[in-house]
Amino acid sequence: VAWSSSTDDACAIADITSLPLETRFPPFRLRQYGGFWLLEKFLEGVPALHSVFEPRPSDVVLGSFPKCGTTWLKALAFATRNRADHPPGGLDHPLRRRNPHDIVHYLELQFAVSMGHALAALPSPRVLATHLPYSLLPRRITAGQGCRIVYICRDPKDAFVSSWFFTNKTAAAERARAGGEEPPPYTFEEAFELFCDGICVSGPQWRHVLGYWEESRRRPEKVLFLRYEEMLRDTAGNVRKLAEFMGCGFSGEEEASGVVQDIVELCSLKSLKNMDVNKSGSHGPLAHESFFRKGVAGDWSNHMTPAMAERLDTIVEDALRGSGLTF
Ligand code: A3P
Repeated sequence: VAWSSSTDDACAIADITSLPLETRFPPFRLRQYGGFWLLEKFLEGVPALHSVFEPRPSDVVLGSFPKCGTTWLKALAFATRNRADHPPGGLDHPLRRRNPHDIVHYLELQFAVSMGHALAALPSPRVLATHLPYSLLPRRITAGQGCRIVYICRDPKDAFVSSWFFTNKTAAAERARAGGEEPPPYTFEEAFELFCDGICVSGPQWRHVLGYWEESRRRPEKVLFLRYEEMLRDTAGNVRKLAEFMGCGFSGEEEASGVVQDIVELCSLKSLKNMDVNKSGSHGPLAHESFFRKGVAGDWSNHMTPAMAERLDTIVEDALRGSGLTF
């Protein structure tokens, strides 16, 4: 492999084509690097992210394994952080006009497409995002003053089921665009086997979650670990926690005037899903509407057999044993 991350973040330019390639996760091409299967497109931006990105102390980076509530967290963090400039009850709020992924950008993708120029132009405080594992983040983000990081995790069984629907939808759209050629069969069972082998975007899931979990225990003031299921159960409580962590806790006056509830409502699945901007259009090859499905905990039980669930649970439990993290 022609490049690697080092302590001073000097990255030689990658020869990504020499990395192991996985094409059985349609329509995404994955490359293996640093113990993870990463989106080829995103990986292209990693060397520049390491060598060029200049974090600001006020930056907040949202980390996630895909399909674990990234879109929701992007919306909540942006709405919370920018509530002074954009009151969440306002009819012209940016989230009413733009998809959350067009407001909060993936660091590695931004460096892949434009060397991060759009990020450098953003005013402070910036809310940014990444699907990279903790171990592949630049040290400028993780060491010293670095940035605050918020990670969202979710039951891997629900993440898998969510990714199955998302992947199928995206693959179907890609096929339609390409003229409807019959695809090779890609079944739920095959997708499950790949997931259990850690072959999926940013997989293995358990290794991804563990990196952030351990860092959240080591440096709780810098890494906040959130759970999708907890956020569903008590969204307002988690928004308050998020605000405190980002250094912009709600004042008594804001609490009294219902700002927290306004943010919760603005960013709810129902609200975002029904916005015109999210009913059409796309973020690259990904249709805006494909980011919003059911938004519940436990949907896996409608799609996985008990044997499948037990198998995945066992893999994850074994991998997380001794870490203090359980699902
Ligand atoms: P389901 O497919 O289980 O419904 P990501 O944003 O990381 O791609 O995750 C997508 C999952 O989050 C999908 O789960 C989607 O429905 C859910 N989701 C998207 N927006 C949400 C919101 N505002 N509130 C709760 N869940 C949301």
